Amino acid sequence: MHILITGGAGFIGSHVVAAARAAGHEVRVLDALLPAVHPGYPDGVPGLDGVELVTGDVRDAGTVDRALAGVDAVCHQAAMVGLGVDVQDMPAYAGINDLGTAVLLAAMARADVGRLVLASSMVVYGEGRYECPEHGVVPAAPRRRDDLDAGRFEPPCPVCGRQLSWGEVGEGTPADPRNTYAATKLAQEHLAAAWARSTGGGAIALRYHNVYGPHMPRDTPYAGVASIFRSALESGRAPRVFEDGGQQRDFVHVTDVAQANLASLAAPPPEAALRAYNVASGVPHTVGDMAGALAEAFGGPAPEVTGEYRIGDVRHVVASPARAEAELGFRAQVTFADGMREFATAPLRPAP
Ligand code: UD1
Repeated sequence: MHILITGGAGFIGSHVVAAARAAGHEVRVLDALLPAVHPGYPDGVPGLDGVELVTGDVRDAGTVDRALAGVDAVCHQAAMVGLGVDVQDMPAYAGINDLGTAVLLAAMARADVGRLVLASSMVVYGEGRYECPEHGVVPAAPRRRDDLDAGRFEPPCPVCGRQLSWGEVGEGTPADPRNTYAATKLAQEHLAAAWARSTGGGAIALRYHNVYGPHMPRDTPYAGVASIFRSALESGRAPRVFEDGGQQRDFVHVTDVAQANLASLAAPPPEAALRAYNVASGVPHTVGDMAGALAEAFGGPAPEVTGEYRIGDVRHVVASPARAEAELGFRAQVTFADGMREFATAPLRPAP
């Protein structure tokens, strides 16, 4: 298959490029090589040796038309990621993520390219899945500042205020995007579904959980927690674990994420316009456990549980990987223990 991988010079994109080439696909990359993400590469972009690279912005129709020539499928990884700094980031997120996706989809229709795999995120769910012993499955009530200050981190039942237990989020869970990035990821899914309905194309949205692995970008305001902890250890500082460290996440290795993309390209086109899949390991861990595993593999210093919190952080988001396994045949291969051991000393993407 001839695949266009947008954002193919990025952290996840470059692993998708490697996996696609290893599987024998012909690959072209479209990447803006944004200076805020990519340092200058006088010797060529790492990982893209021998790959056809179109350098340009996904919002530029002419560039996208060129990039799509002769392509069978698109793997759309180009995006502005992370939670952002403040509301002044909104135009950039909406521009790159949503206008960019709209320009790409329109160009795909012109070029008659009917297969799309879209990098989406577990952030579209907002909070995870919670259950009250009395009221069953309920949306978690917002966590109040005085509860968090008092070290009460578990979200309460919105009806009776009792502590909730958490469970696995399935793809049928209603979306509840709670920040700019989440809103733009969900809008990408809706745009892709609209494109599929009107062109007869097929779109798969992969809702990545907490991705980590070699060449993850270093600590920035946009970085995920695994990279923040890894960067701290490297500079001799203890990882600072917020809340009580008991918040649950699903840490999924980037090579598994790349395989989920390939499995999506190999699967028959979805019957519905767009089909979403969790991309997760299926084995949740607490942020405290993750910090401990990384610090141990790195050789210290040991994590500090600080009790600090970030307003707006969700407590637990744990995915069911069942649909991806049943329909795409995708199952994560890298265990938490192996992945974290490797990540503790793996190279990170250099800061620009
Ligand atoms: C992260 C990404 C989100 C992405 C999602 C799925 C960021 C900022 N968030 O969301 O964009 O869609 O994974 O891949 O990239 N924490 C600490 N110490 C720190 C920093 C964070 O304990 O120094 C804690 C946070 O309080 C939180 C947890 O770690 O409980 C996870 O934080 P983070 O990785 O930033 O965000 P997610 O909500 O998991």
